[in-house]
Amino acid sequence: MMKAEELQAVAILVPAGFSDHAVGRIERTFRRIAIERADPALVTDEMSSTVRGIASFAGINAAMMDALPNLELIASFGVGYDSVDVGHAAANNIMVTNTPDVLTEEVADTAIGLLINTIRDLPRAETWLRDGSWAKKGDYPLSRLTLRARRVGIFGMGRIGRAIARRLEAFGLPVAYHNRRRVEGLAYQYHPTLKGLAEAVDTLISVAPGGASTQKAVNAEILSALGANGVFVNIGRGSTVDEAALAAALANGTIAAAGLDVFAAEPNVPKALLDAPNASLLPHVGSASQHTRRAMADLCVDNLVSWFGEHRPLTPVPETANVRARG
Ligand code: NAP
Ligand code: 8YV
Repeated sequence: MMKAEELQAVAILVPAGFSDHAVGRIERTFRRIAIERADPALVTDEMSSTVRGIASFAGINAAMMDALPNLELIASFGVGYDSVDVGHAAANNIMVTNTPDVLTEEVADTAIGLLINTIRDLPRAETWLRDGSWAKKGDYPLSRLTLRARRVGIFGMGRIGRAIARRLEAFGLPVAYHNRRRVEGLAYQYHPTLKGLAEAVDTLISVAPGGASTQKAVNAEILSALGANGVFVNIGRGSTVDEAALAAALANGTIAAAGLDVFAAEPNVPKALLDAPNASLLPHVGSASQHTRRAMADLCVDNLVSWFGEHRPLTPVPETANVRARG
C-alpha cells in the first residue's frame, strides 16, 4: 500500500473543463498536470516521461495512450466509455475505470421526464403560459398522445434500463426489452432482436451503450416497426441512431414523436431534428445534477486513489478487468 506522500509524486494528467470537485481532490492527493485537452499533439516531454494516470471525460484514443508510455490508468468520468479505445488499453496493459451505479437513478429519472415531455408536450405548454398565449388565446391544445395504455420496450436492459423499467411498472405500463442476452431472473418479456421488440411495443426507450455493436441500430426499419403511434426516446448514445432516418420518420409520420437527450455529433444537433415539432430535445443532461456529478467525480478519483494506493481498481470496465498493476 502506497503512503500519502508517495501518492503526491504520482503524476495525473487532467484535461481542462474537468469537474472542479475532482480537480480539487486530485490536487490534494497527487501531482496534477494540466493539459488543454487529451490530444497527443499537446503532450510535452515532461508529460510523456511522468504521467501514470489520466482523469478523462471526453475520450482517449490510441495515439494519446501511445504518447504516454508510463500510463497505467484511465479513470473515465461517466458510465459510458465508448470514447475510450479500451481494446488498445487492454492490449497495452492500461486499466480503464468508469463510474457506474452512482448515476443510475438520476438518469432513469431524466428518461421518465423526457418520455412525459415528449408524449404530453409539456415544454411547449410551459412556453404557452410564459409567452402570454394562455391569457390571450385560451387553453393549451390537448396533447395528441398519451402515456396511458402504452407498451414500452427498453433497448439496453442494464443498470439504467432496469431503473427505468421499475419506474414504468409503477405507472402501470407493461415493459419488454432487448439485449444480446436474456437477463436471468428478470420477469419482463425478452426479445432476441431489436426489430422483434419494436414490433411488439409502441414506445421504445434506448439506453444501450455506444460502440460498433450498436452503431445506427435504430434505423428506418426499426422506426417503421414501431409504427405511426410510436414514440422513440434516446437516453443512451446518439451513435445508436440513424439520425437522418429518425428525422424522416418524424416528418412523414412513420412514428409520432421522439425525445432525445443524446446526439451523434454533440453538441451539434441536425437541423432536421431541431425543426421537428414532434421532437423534445435535451442537451445531454441525463446525469447532470450537482449531486450526481459530484458522486461521479468522487468515484472517478476514488479509482485513481485505489489503483495507485492499493493496486486495485474499484470499477474496472470489463475489457480491462484482467489488467494488472505494474511493478
Ligand atoms: P449497462 O448496465 O452496461 O447496460 C447496458 C445494457 O446494454 C446491457 O444490458 C447490455 O446487455 C446491453 N447491450 C450492450 N450492447 C448491446 C447490443 N449490441 N445490443 C443489444 N443490447 C446491448 O450500462 P448502464 O449503466 O445501464 O448505462 C447504459 C448506457 O447509458 C451507457 O453506456 C451510456 O452510453 C448511457 N448513459 C447516458 C447518460 C446520459 O446522460 N444520457 C448517462 C449515463 C449513461 P448485453 O451485454 O446482454 O447485450
Ligand atoms: C455524462 C454519460 O454526461 O455517464 C455517461 O455515460 O453520458 C453522462 O453521465 C458524461 O459521461 C460526462 O462526460
